[in-house]
Amino acid sequence: MDALLALKARRSVGSYKPDPVPPKIVEDIVDCGLLAVTALNLQPWEFVVAAEMESRRQLAEMIDTGRFIGEAPVCVAVFCRDTKYYLEDGSAAIQNMLVAARAHGLGSCWVAGDKKPYFARVGEMLGMALQTHRAGCVGLFHRTTLVATQEIALRSAALGEVLAEVQGRFYVIGHADDRSGR
Ligand SMILES: Cc1cc2nc3c(=O)[nH]c(=O)nc-3n(C[C@H](O)[C@H](O)[C@H](O)COP(=O)(O)O)c2cc1C
Repeated sequence: MDALLALKARRSVGSYKPDPVPPKIVEDIVDCGLLAVTALNLQPWEFVVAAEMESRRQLAEMIDTGRFIGEAPVCVAVFCRDTKYYLEDGSAAIQNMLVAARAHGLGSCWVAGDKKPYFARVGEMLGMALQTHRAGCVGLFHRTTLVATQEIALRSAALGEVLAEVQGRFYVIGHADDRSGR
C-alpha cells in the first residue's frame, strides 16, 4: 500500500479475527518501529512481541483500557530506558508500527502506557525491570474483521471515497463499540 494512503487509512480498532499474523509480517512491522526517528540516535527502546496466547491473556487481565489484547493474535510492547526523549522516541516507534500494520492490511490500537497504574505489572510480566526501563508505551496490532472489505474498496475507489468507505466500515464494526469502552 502507498505510504500516504496507509497514513490516512490507519484507525484504532478493537474488533479483529484471531487468525495468526505471519512471523515475516510481524518482523517487518517491528523493523519499521526499530527504524523510527530517535533523539541523538540513542534508540533507547526494547520491543517485546507477545504472540503466545497465555501471555496475551495475562496482559489483557492487567490492562483495563485494552482488554481486547487477549483476543489479538499479536501484541507488541515498547519499553524505553529513561532517556531525556524516551517518550518521543517510544511514541515514534509505535506510530511507525501502527502505520506499517495498516500497510500490511492489519488493524491496530495503541494502548497506553507508562502513566497507567498497570504499567509496572506489565513490565514485570514481560521481563522489563522498571529500575532500568522506567518509561514506555504499549502498542498492539491485530487482524481486523475489516481487512477484506477495505482491500476491495482500496482497489476500486478514488482516495476520498476509499477513506469514507474505510472509516464507515471501521465505525460500524469496530471503532464505535470500542470508543464506549475507552
Ligand atoms: C498515548 C495513547 C494512548 C492510548 N491508549 C489507548 C488505550 O489505552 N485504549 C484504547 O482503546 N485506545 C487507546 N489509544 C487510541 C486512541 O484512543 C485513538 O488513537 C483515538 O481515539 C483516535 O482514534 P484513531 O486512532 O482511530 O484516529 C491511545 C492512543 C494514544 C496516542
